[in-house]
Amino acid sequence: MQPSSDAAKRNAAYAAADHVKDGMVVGLGSGTTAAYAILALGERRKHQNLQIFGVPSSYQAFQLAVVNGIPITTLEEHPTVDVNIDGADQIEPQLNLIKGMGAALVREKIVAASATTNIFIADETKKVTALGEGNQPVPIEVVPFSIALVRHRIQKLGGVALLRETKGKLGPVISDNGNVIMDATFGEINDPTVLNHQLKMIPGVVETGLFIGLTDIVYLGTDTAVQKFEAKR
Ligand code: 5RP
Repeated sequence: MQPSSDAAKRNAAYAAADHVKDGMVVGLGSGTTAAYAILALGERRKHQNLQIFGVPSSYQAFQLAVVNGIPITTLEEHPTVDVNIDGADQIEPQLNLIKGMGAALVREKIVAASATTNIFIADETKKVTALGEGNQPVPIEVVPFSIALVRHRIQKLGGVALLRETKGKLGPVISDNGNVIMDATFGEINDPTVLNHQLKMIPGVVETGLFIGLTDIVYLGTDTAVQKFEAKR
C-alpha cells in the first residue's frame, strides 16, 4: 500500500470545503486531513469573505480554527451543524468508518450526530473492504475506573484491548474529556453495527470509534485527483 500523502489529503479536504456556504455552522474535524479542511475554510474566509461559525471537535481543531480566523460557536448556541467535515482511519464500501486514532472520537461523533450533512475526507489508503482489515483497532473512550472491566468484556467478545500510551510523556493518553483510550483489535469486523452496540453496552464505555450510518459523502484523495462517494440512506 502507498503511504498517505499530504497532496492526497489536501485534495480531499479542499473538495469538502467547497460544500460550505455563507451563514453555515460547520463541524471542524480532527487529525491531519481535517486540518487541511480548516485551512481551506480559513483561506475562503480571508479571500472570499466567507461568513461561517465552526464547532471544533477537539482542542486541536479549536486551535486551528483560531489560527485560521474561523469564529467558534458551541452546540448550545447552534445545536444543528449544517456541514461537518472530518477525517477517518478506515472507510468501507457502505461508508461506515473507524475513527479515533487522534483520540477525539467522542466529540467527533457528537458533532457528526448534530450535523445535517457529514462529509468524511481521507487519502485513498484509508479505503478498505471491511473495517478492522490489517488489524486496524477500534479506538474506544473509557472512563478510567472501568479499564479492567472493558478489557475483560472485549476479550469475551473475541478482541484484544490495549490501553493507549502517550508518546510525549509517560502514561496513558488522556482524552479532551479526561478519559482514557483503549484500542481494541478484532480482526475483520463482520457486523460493525452489532459490535458497536455490544461495545456501547459495557459500563464505562463512553463512545466507540465505529461511525455507523453517519456518512453522507466521502472524498478520497490521491496526489492528483479526488473521488466522491455518496451514501445510499
Ligand atoms: C481523530 C480522528 C481522525 O480524523 C482520524 O484519525 C484520521 O486522522 P488523519 O487524517 O490524521 O489520518 O478520528 O480522532
